[in-house]
Amino acid sequence: MGSASVAESVEERLERGEVVFYPQTPFILPAGEDYAFLLDQQSGGVIHKDISFNPHNGKAIGFARHDVIQADHLERVFGDFARAALDWLRLALPSYAPGIEADRVSYRPEEEATRRLRHNARNDLLHVDAFPGRPARGRRILRLFTNLHPTETRVWVTSEPLPRLLPQVRDRVTRGTNWWRRLADLVGRRSPSDRFMLRLHDFLKASHDFQKHGSRRLWHFPPGSAWLVMTDGCTYAELRGRCALEHSFFVRPEVLVRPDLAPEALLRAG
Ligand SMILES: [Fe+2]
Repeated sequence: MGSASVAESVEERLERGEVVFYPQTPFILPAGEDYAFLLDQQSGGVIHKDISFNPHNGKAIGFARHDVIQADHLERVFGDFARAALDWLRLALPSYAPGIEADRVSYRPEEEATRRLRHNARNDLLHVDAFPGRPARGRRILRLFTNLHPTETRVWVTSEPLPRLLPQVRDRVTRGTNWWRRLADLVGRRSPSDRFMLRLHDFLKASHDFQKHGSRRLWHFPPGSAWLVMTDGCTYAELRGRCALEHSFFVRPEVLVRPDLAPEALLRAG
């Protein structure tokens, strides 16, 4: 394999913080009755931000529940999606196949432009991802998004990738931690890198300067398209759209093509 093809591998593009776009989702999405059923589902309750599904136990939460038949149907649709997504990823990103771990599926039926969320949970502010309840512990966060809406585009904006952003904000992030994060650090099982990434998430969302003046690239994801992103290394915001179906994964450090670009390595390198 020549150096040019190595430089252009999807794995490396992802690890550098790029969005990799597929105009047509390259695996089977919910169709027919299952598709109509999914479009009918709504978020339920105030605890969960989105409808989510754990492929390890087959359970869905956060949806407006009507009866057992509906819950079973939803879990089957999510289960089929999770299997199709993982099977495709193993083929599309062969370097990751031995080290990819399924995390969660989420379905976001609500319009991003108008939904009401507390400031720190808002999707429409630029941020990097860190999952408070599921520490990465050296693994990278890879997310596969699809736009299921029949007619509406999903709109994102992206800004600096982590390797460029980190030198600009690192000191301020370390200094600016709030008391709630400090308390959570004491009881959590998080690595120093996990703790920093949670602080960075909060810092970026709270930074008026970064939200207003950071570099910006606008993305329009049409119905039926898919996109892959390592959201721990790509600053992004979801501005508009509804009915996104997404699957998050962890990629173990030993299969990374550019381990030097992982948050933990960037932080260690200072
Ligand atoms: Fe996010």
